[in-house]
Amino acid sequence: MIHYLKNVKVSELENKICLLRLDFNTEDNWRMRASLPTIHFLSRNCRVTVILSHKGRPFGNAQGNPNSFDKKLSLRLVAANLKKELKKPVIFIPHFRFKEIKKLIRVSPKGSVFLLENLRFLKGESRNSIELAGKLAGLGDIYINDAFAVSHRPNASVAGIAGFLPSYAGLELEAEIKNLSRIMKNPKKPLVIILGGIKIKDKLGVYRNLKNKAETFLIGGALTPKILKLKLPKVVWSEDFLKKNGIIKDIGRRSIAKFKSEIKKAGTIVWNGPVGDIYQKQFQKGTEEIARALARNKKAFTAVGGGETVMFLKKLKLDKKMDFISTGGGAMLDFLAGKKLPGIEALK
Ligand code: 3PG
Repeated sequence: MIHYLKNVKVSELENKICLLRLDFNTEDNWRMRASLPTIHFLSRNCRVTVILSHKGRPFGNAQGNPNSFDKKLSLRLVAANLKKELKKPVIFIPHFRFKEIKKLIRVSPKGSVFLLENLRFLKGESRNSIELAGKLAGLGDIYINDAFAVSHRPNASVAGIAGFLPSYAGLELEAEIKNLSRIMKNPKKPLVIILGGIKIKDKLGVYRNLKNKAETFLIGGALTPKILKLKLPKVVWSEDFLKKNGIIKDIGRRSIAKFKSEIKKAGTIVWNGPVGDIYQKQFQKGTEEIARALARNKKAFTAVGGGETVMFLKKLKLDKKMDFISTGGGAMLDFLAGKKLPGIEALK
């Protein structure tokens, strides 16, 4: 059973130092904003709130291949942005001298909010080092994960840390779990799942897990032709494309029309990943038409995730027209694929 922050008595938080894992791995502050209710709740009720996060892949990739320390990935600027969003001071800690940090936290006034530097600057983070998890846990009394977007990573501040402290899902993570579970278990029919982007493997995982639940899968994106030969039941592939130098850049007119007619009939629509190269104006049409079709279907429950897709919706000012915006990209796909997410498992 997952333990939810919402069910914790406020009196139990009063004298606690609360460690809060967030995901600041976005170009603008939209994931930060999604967690503002949790940050406000904790900073009101805990003695001190200490925020943990990562940004980018300073060690090369999630497996922790060594690369160089990258100052561009510092969270210093994030702390300044968070201060504006929260309308209260945020103390940024630019080092990992844990003894010093602990002292600083212990003597700080009630209601203080701290943000630690990018945890992926430490190799142990991506390796889920128990030593690092223990050091982080030693800074506080309870742990809250409100970082759905990184919950598919077995990282020290996401998974390992929960073994040391009473641990809870924050308000945003709770909304993710409940909305996505509802789609998987009890969707209003027909359920239409739209998958774009380039990671074919993740898409096939979602297909395998939900093929008996969903009526239709709409698959677009640059790698589609490579798996077109797989004749999967219920799948509508994009079959005509716009190309540049032989490379697929967007879905074509016929595919757009097919996709729109399925979207119009749907009772639930889940969408992850653009179907074209949305960084170039001339190849945004397919993705834009899908976004507008979702917004037009007022009777359907619409859930959209994936960083690029959400940013694009925001640009079109259509994000508010969706019923649920997931903060997860890969995490959303893994969840829909029925995989166990280490960050969520750790809260049970
Ligand atoms: C994301 O942006 O999807 C998450 O922060 C996870 O990042 P990662 O893929 O670098 O682990």
